[in-house]
Amino acid sequence: MAEFSLPKNSKVQKGKHFAAKAGAKKVRNFKVYRWNPDAGQNPSTDTYEVDLATCGPMVLDALIKIKNEIDPSLTFRRSCREGICGSCAMNIDGTNTLACTKAIEDCKGEVKIYPLPHMPVIKDLVPDLSHFYAQYASIKPWIRTQSTPMPDSERLQSKEDRAKLDGLYECILCACCSTSCPSYWWNGDRYLGPAVLLQAYRWIIDSRDEDTGARLDDLEDPFRLYRCHTIMNCAKTCPKGLNPAKAIAEIKKLMIQRRGA
Ligand code: SF4
Ligand code: SF4
Ligand code: FES
Repeated sequence: MAEFSLPKNSKVQKGKHFAAKAGAKKVRNFKVYRWNPDAGQNPSTDTYEVDLATCGPMVLDALIKIKNEIDPSLTFRRSCREGICGSCAMNIDGTNTLACTKAIEDCKGEVKIYPLPHMPVIKDLVPDLSHFYAQYASIKPWIRTQSTPMPDSERLQSKEDRAKLDGLYECILCACCSTSCPSYWWNGDRYLGPAVLLQAYRWIIDSRDEDTGARLDDLEDPFRLYRCHTIMNCAKTCPKGLNPAKAIAEIKKLMIQRRGA
């Protein structure tokens, strides 16, 4: 018989509590998901009391302070610190977002921090994005041409054609949208998800690309494209303000148009 509840010992346990140093002026609690594959233990949530009087304003500032001053074993990804690299994507205060652009003062009460949902965890706040990146590679995210010889300089396009990439080129592949999408949670093995489909559309409508037909052929599949049910979590959560659901709808429109052509 199918078992629908998780086994008892797989629950996230209550972890350690790290009290603030004496004299701390403005203490805020950060509850952080912890899991170490080498420890053979269940995951837990540790609580860190952080003195915001000596901390930068963003959630990433608090995580760096925790790692530097309280608990060096805490593991997370980050690089640019300004919303460009996508490395620090995680679930903060119930929403997938970037730790470096999420202000601590915008979080309610205790700041709860988990890895991006429904992804295998490598350690603590670091999800395994191998499958996500393999899906990205599968759409061949580069200009594909047959007719034009390789130019000596940039491939030019009109201002109007360039403007068609607005709302798409800004995607930093942080995976916040895909990991907030229920269809991706359940069918992520075959459904490409909002981030990769937004990227696919970005190449489909690039005036310099000559492989539109083959790109659409690759997506004409009940799972790769058609698992999107317009639930819109993706657009709600994107930290760059993009709308992957709209890009997906545009791909579906192109599919219908070419059937009628
Ligand atoms: S569309 Fe937005 S949320 Fe999705 S990967 Fe790109 S930047 Fe991140
Ligand atoms: S609109 Fe589509 S891609 Fe976006 S969250 Fe919903 S099902 Fe997923
Ligand atoms: S550290 Fe690069 S996006 Fe946050």
